[in-house]
Amino acid sequence: MKINILSGALGAEILNFSLNTITHDNFKILNDLLLEHKVIFFRDQNIAPEELMYLGSLFGTVEEHAYVKGLENFPQITRIVKAANEKNQWGEGWHSDVSYDLKPCKTIILRSIKIPPVGGDTVFSNMELAWETLDEGIKNIIHDKKALHESNGSKFFVENYSQMESNGLVGEKYSNEHPIVRTHPETGNKILFVNPTYTKKILGIPENDSNKLLEKIFRHQERLDLSCRFKWTDNAIAILDNRCTQHYAIADFYPGRGLGHERIMDRIAIVGDQPF
Ligand code: SIN
Repeated sequence: MKINILSGALGAEILNFSLNTITHDNFKILNDLLLEHKVIFFRDQNIAPEELMYLGSLFGTVEEHAYVKGLENFPQITRIVKAANEKNQWGEGWHSDVSYDLKPCKTIILRSIKIPPVGGDTVFSNMELAWETLDEGIKNIIHDKKALHESNGSKFFVENYSQMESNGLVGEKYSNEHPIVRTHPETGNKILFVNPTYTKKILGIPENDSNKLLEKIFRHQERLDLSCRFKWTDNAIAILDNRCTQHYAIADFYPGRGLGHERIMDRIAIVGDQPF
């Protein structure tokens, strides 16, 4: 195994490693890599849907997406498709997945099936570093506060993606409140746990102040020195710790540069803890 560190902030590509060899007995190797690097990447992995499900089950219970219909035989696998003529990309914009859930998923596994010749990279960002480097004045205001996270309803997840379908179960928005600074249940590290896609309000302060503060925090979280970028190839796998990272799938599909090509990924998510 060789480890290629992707940036000063987070992320590592693990070389000469076959995910098919991971079982309950040697799972610690994989989990330790994930806890250290927060997002880990593997190329040329020949992984069938049932093997993807098995890999996910080593982390915990694999859940179905709240709004998007999964594959016929594997309802927990969400197939993310950008059709060839589409410009939009599912997952565009900074977010941690389903932060509006009571127990937002702890781990996400993405498997690339078909990748355009150019465009559609994903950027990941380290929210422990975001907390460490945040302005002290802002830290003092928010350290003991909660924020409201709201889902954007089922349309948000399907209306711009012709190949993706709502599961028809939940059409409405729903929300949960979480500490703004959460503690990683495995490492004890502090994490800045708000994101511009789902966090709507800091509780316990006037709305105007909340808006201004969130705007400053979101700008801080976007800092490029907190991030790493992964260029996908077919049959790559990303495993990310959704508790302490955010990610952003880039929709840079322009004529002659990615537009006219499909981008297809499979995604599974593992049930997490209630943030504390
Ligand atoms: C997501 O936000 O989970 C999608 C990421 C990607 O397709 O790169």
